[in-house]
Formats: sequence, C-alpha cells, structure tokens
Amino acid sequence: MHAVNGEHPPIPEMRLTVTLAVLAAALGLARPQCFSTRDDFSVKINNDISGITDFGLELYRQLAPPQSSENFFFSPYSIWTAFTLAYFSTGGETAAQLRRALRVDDQVATLKLWRALEAMYERRQAATTDYTFRTANRHYVDRRLDVRPCIAELLRAELEAIDFRDVSAAGTINRFAFEKTNGKISDVVSTRELERAVMAIVNAAYFKSTWQMQFDPEYTQPMPFYATPEQLHTVPMMVLDSSLNYGDFSQIAARVVELPYKGKTMSMFIFLPSEEGPGGFTKMVSRLSANNLRAATNAELLNKRLVEVQLPRFKLNVKVKGLIPALMNIGITDIFSYDKANFTTLGPLRDVAVRTVIHKAFVEVNEEGTEAAAVTVAIAPVRSFIPRIPFYCNRPFLFLIRDNDTRNILFMGAYKDPTTAT
Ligand SMILES: *[C@@H]1O[C@H](CO)[C@@H](O)[C@H](O)[C@H]1NC(C)=O
Ligand SMILES: *[C@@H]1O[C@H](CO)[C@@H](O)[C@H](O)[C@H]1NC(C)=O
Repeated sequence: MHAVNGEHPPIPEMRLTVTLAVLAAALGLARPQCFSTRDDFSVKINNDISGITDFGLELYRQLAPPQSSENFFFSPYSIWTAFTLAYFSTGGETAAQLRRALRVDDQVATLKLWRALEAMYERRQAATTDYTFRTANRHYVDRRLDVRPCIAELLRAELEAIDFRDVSAAGTINRFAFEKTNGKISDVVSTRELERAVMAIVNAAYFKSTWQMQFDPEYTQPMPFYATPEQLHTVPMMVLDSSLNYGDFSQIAARVVELPYKGKTMSMFIFLPSEEGPGGFTKMVSRLSANNLRAATNAELLNKRLVEVQLPRFKLNVKVKGLIPALMNIGITDIFSYDKANFTTLGPLRDVAVRTVIHKAFVEVNEEGTEAAAVTVAIAPVRSFIPRIPFYCNRPFLFLIRDNDTRNILFMGAYKDPTTAT
C-alpha cells in the first residue's frame, strides 16, 4: 500500500481498494501509459481552444436566465480549467462526458493543450507589465488516498496531499484562493462543506489591467440607469469619447463596442441590446451562439468609429448558485454520482463523487481599468455508509402532541388525504 502518509489509520467509511497498488506502480514505471494502454505523448497538439467559448456560453445560459433581474458574473475559463483538471483523474463514461462537454480531446492531448496554455500565459505574463492574468490550480487529495504513481508524476505541479480530517483543510484551500486572487476572493469553502471530503479540485484566476483609453474621472457623474423602462436608478456614469471598434449586429439584436486594455492583448466587449427593456436583453441572449459571439468580437467585423461610451462604474461579488444542475444539463452527470463517478485514473477509488461545486467571482470596473477574479472548487467526499433507518411517511399515519411532563395528550390526528390537506 502506498499511502501518501501512513501515520493515520484508514477512514473506516472510505472504501479504497489498494489491491492495484503494485500494478499501478508497474504502470507508473513503464510510463507513459498512464491514461490508457496506448498513450502517445508525441501526438500533435490541437491549439484551437474555441470550444471553451461554446462551453462557457452554454453554461451562461444555464446559470443566468436572461429574464432574471439579478447581476451575474462568472469565469467560464475557471470552471473549464477546474473540470479539465478533474478530467485527468477520471475514466470510463465519467471521462467521456467531460470530454464532450468541455470540448476537449483525449486525456493525453488535453494535458498537452493544458500545459501549452499554461506556458503561453506564463510567457506572455513574463513579457508584459500591461496586464496581469494568471491562473493557478490545485488538486488536493487526502493523505490517506492512493494515487497512482504515474498520475502523481504527470500532475505533480497540481497534486497536493493534505489531511482533510484536520480542521485546517478549509484554511489551506481558502488561503490558496486568497493568495492567487490577490485577496479578492476569500472564504470559499467552510469546514462543513469539506465533511468526508477526500479531494478538492481548485482553480483560481486573476486579471487586472488599465484601459488603453482611460475614462476621465472628472466626467463621471450621477446619471440614470434604466433597469426597466419604468424603473430607474442613479449610478456613477463614466464617459469616454474615443475612436473605438464598433459593430451593429442585427443577427444578435445588439450593438458591440470594444474597450481595449493597455497593450491591446486583452479587451472588454460590451453588448448593448438594440431594443430597450428586458425584452431586448432576452432577445439578444436567445440569439447569441458561440459562432455569432465569435463574429461579434472579431476585430475584422468591427469598424473604427468615434464613439461616446457611457458606462456605469461598478463592482460585483457573485457566488454562483446551481452549478451542479447547470453542468448536468450540459451533459456532465456521472462525476456527481457515487454510483457512477469513475476516478480510477487517479487511483483505486470507489464511492467518491463530486458533490459540491463552488464558484465565486469578483469584478470591479472603474475609470482606470478592471480587476477581476474567480475561484472554482469541486469537492469530492466519500459516500457515508452510516445506515439510516427508513421512516417514510408515504401512507396514512397517526400523530399526536403530548405534554411531556403530565403525559397529557393535547392534540391527536390522522393524515390520510393530501388533497384536502394543503
Ligand atoms: C472506469 O474507467 C476505467 C478506465 O477507463 C475502465 O477500465 C473501468 O471499466 C471503468 N469502471 C467502471 C465501473 O465503469
Ligand atoms: C421531555 O422533553 C425533554 C426534552 O425537552 C426530554 O429530555 C425528556 O426526556 C422528556 N420527558 C419525558 C418524560 O419524555
């Protein structure tokens, strides 16, 4: 048995079979057959990552109903990255679902793409002071968990063994998130959310840059913002008069302007519905597809125009709700089920599934520029085998209310007909 740290007794609930350890070690030594028997690390890398756009847009539609009146902000890239990291640990149908939904290739090619992306962002970051964009990943595993040596080797930058039964586990994860987001995101997980956890897969992303053309704070003044044509709020409205990339796209019922950041490697695109009112927004979102999103943000289809931009100064802190149902609706299901989740690529794990997905995001847009951060955490506990006595009141039953001291029955009744009981 090759536990990362042998000094703790095994968790009784944790049914981790360890019989494959010898075989796993052999596979590890034999390299590169880590993901399958025919891993070929020489395959050419597919650099087209536009699939992430499709994934992000699908998820956006699931998470933010266009008719909702709430603000929304998230990082599809952070969620994509966290689940891609999870993908490397999975096998069978669990892996197949992730591959389809994340729009990635097999695990070998995806790991190469992942490393290439990481290297590209590092290279670009080293070469510029115009902006900061960094992402960081951790795959925390419980010390008692068996990790196949070949995976431990391939993911040595991401894998970290911690003691999930120690109260410090939440602090370890929260500190990682806090540091990697420049302090913008804190308290991502609680000790309660880590109950019975044996894995937590974390991505943190951070962006900060100043505008190429800054808004003059002198021009910022209180102006109306129409949440609906009838409902107006006064907001600090920033003003910019400049030559900008602009487009009017009838196919998405929206006008688009590009606000580049310093150095022009990164830009913010703003989509303003052509029609006023909530109907206009809904129409725009319903017409948005990955293809016409790409078209509307393609510099060749935008024209340099003199534009007067009025944009509210704002700051959002969002904790995204309902990520698991949203991910299930786009085809990722088995990883959330104790009966189906297949993590055999990571190690001989059973009865472990992702049961909690947390996504917190932050953005601040002001006259100078933008700061944005997001953290995704996927928590995988082991199934609880403490038996429950079933007591299902799904047929007529009697109930009574008794005085504890005098043993006097104060009320008594029978529940038999739900149709007259609401
Ligand atoms: C899990 O995935 C592995 C590797 O893809 C496969 O060999 C195994 O049969 C799968 N297990 C289940 C229970 O589906
Ligand atoms: C009455 O209720 C208390 C809790 O409020 C409980 O501890 C006690 O056992 C009960 N007494 C009887 C006679 O059932």
